Formats: sequence, C-alpha cells, structure tokens
Amino acid sequence: MERIQAALKKARETRSGLDQPNAKHPVSATDDMRDARAARDPDALLLSPDMALGDREELWKTIPAINPSEKVLDRHRLIAHMASPASVPYDVMRTKLLHKMRQNKWTRVAITSPSARAGKTMTSLNLAFSLSRQSDVFSMLLELDMRQPALARSIGLKDACQFSRVLRGEEEPEAHMRRYGRNLLLGANQTPARNPAELLQGARAAHVIDNLEANYRPDIIILDTPPMFAGDDTIAFLDQVDCVLLIAEAERSTIEEVDKCEQELAARTNVLGVVLNKCRYLDRHEEYGKEYGY
Ligand SMILES: Nc1ncnc2c1ncn2[C@@H]1O[C@H](COP(=O)(O)OP(=O)(O)OP(=O)(O)O)[C@@H](O)[C@H]1O
Ligand SMILES: [Mg+2]
Repeated sequence: MERIQAALKKARETRSGLDQPNAKHPVSATDDMRDARAARDPDALLLSPDMALGDREELWKTIPAINPSEKVLDRHRLIAHMASPASVPYDVMRTKLLHKMRQNKWTRVAITSPSARAGKTMTSLNLAFSLSRQSDVFSMLLELDMRQPALARSIGLKDACQFSRVLRGEEEPEAHMRRYGRNLLLGANQTPARNPAELLQGARAAHVIDNLEANYRPDIIILDTPPMFAGDDTIAFLDQVDCVLLIAEAERSTIEEVDKCEQELAARTNVLGVVLNKCRYLDRHEEYGKEYGY
C-alpha cells in the first residue's frame, strides 16, 4: 500500500511541473459551472430554488420504494446499509467526501476507474448506502454505464427500470427511479442501452440531469460511470460533474494507468482521490480508511 501511494505521489510530483490545466487553474466547478448548466435552458428548470425541506421529503415519497434482500446485497458485497466494522471504510469515505463537496458547494461526483471490473458499481452502491444512513442527506445514485449496467442486478431489482429512457427524455423519472429508505433514489437500467456514446454526449442527458437536480434537490448525486479507457463515454460526461473519485484495482491497475487516468480526469474536473479496491494485504499499521488517499 505504501509503495503504491509513494509511486503515485512521485508521478504527481513529476507532472506538477508540467503545464497541466488543473495545476495552473484548479477546476472550480462551483457557482460558475452551475450557472453554465442553468444557462442551457433556464425555463426548463422546474422547481423554485426555495423548495422547503418537507416538500422535498414528500416528493421523494412518491418514488416507489424497494427493499433489497440481505442475501442479494451480501452476494454483491454491499454492506454499508448497516453500521458494522465492515462499513467503516465506506463511512470514512462518505464523511470525507461530504466534507469536501459541501466545502466547495459541489453536488455531483462521478465514480470511474481506468479499466473494467475495478469495483465502481460496488463502491458507488456502498457509498450511497452509507450516505443513506445519514438522515439529513438526500442522495441520488444514477447509472451512466449504459453498456454494462449492473446497479439493478447488484441489488436484485426485478422491475423493468430503464433509466436510459429518462436520459433520452422519452419517459418521466418517476417511472424508472426507485427509492431506498427515505433519502436515497436510484436510477438503474435492467439492460444495456442503444447508442450509449451518443446518449451520454448529447445535450438531452445533461439537461435531464439538470432538471432532476432542480426538481428533486438531492444533496449529492453519485454517477456510476463506465471505465475511462473503455471508450469516450465517461470523458464526454465529465463536463457535467463537479468532481470524480477514481477506483484502482489492487494487483491489476498499474501505476502508469492510474496516473494517466488521473491526469486525464484532472484536466477536466476535480479529482477527489484514488480508492485502492480489492486490496488483500494491508500494511499492519494501516487503519481502516487510511487507504483512501484524498
Ligand atoms: N473489494 C472487493 N473485494 C472483492 N471483490 C470485489 C471487491 N469490489 C468488487 N468486487 C467484485 O469485482 C467484480 C467487479 O465489481 P464491480 O461490478 O463493482 O466493478 P465495476 O468497476 O463496476 O465493473 P464494470 O467496469 O464492469 O462496470 C464484482 O464481481 C464484485 O463483486
Ligand atoms: Mg460497473
């Protein structure tokens, strides 16, 4: 673990002297970015900004509730819906993430990785479940991996949800979103969507997410994205997020690919940190949570 952290630190130091857009001009995706989003079509932002918190809760209650089985959650390594020693790393991640996002007035975080199977969906869900245990935080987890959607399967959702139809503007969000508890909404796909790159790069999807945010007023939106190097779906969508969390897979992701991925992300948005997932060997003195290199 320490070797990986040291190698990444060295790579960052080496490139900090280069003319990185993010090194010179840290991306500040705060009010400017939000203004730019709103400017796309101000008339289409549906709700007044002073929506009362009670109204928000009532609105969220209109989304059909789900109650995933413990067995299915367990099978997919989803453990953060209940406080336990196993949930601690996700709770630490949640707290650090919330702190940083609130500090910067950010609301949207994308979860990505250099290549496939690093644990993006599992991390997105565990983070969302951990957030759902904070009663004052209302979160949305949206699936943007249109090629290999896995959110629905991971929680055993059998309903015919196809969030891609909402992103295309073909159907209302209520038809394809589900609610876990009182403060977590999920937008998932049962099957891959047609023309995923076109869908994510189009103005329509960005506009739909703007409207969802304006309408439902989530405190945080987590976007489970495809791997960075599997295509341009994730890169194309980075303009729509405030920050990103990079998942590296222990023993598979190389320092070079994590570094390259981090550079590409840092040129376009704010990188919150790198999570080393599937780590079998912790240094003996490492405590839970230390591996999240914010
Ligand atoms: N910390 C972990 N320990 C062991 N197995 C894990 C861990 N995290 C994820 N996995 C397993 O690795 C596989 C891939 O996980 P997941 O689907 O979350 O990755 P992903 O990055 O979303 O994949 P994709 O690129 O296909 O979207 C799953 O079988 C998952 O259960
Ligand atoms: Mg996934």
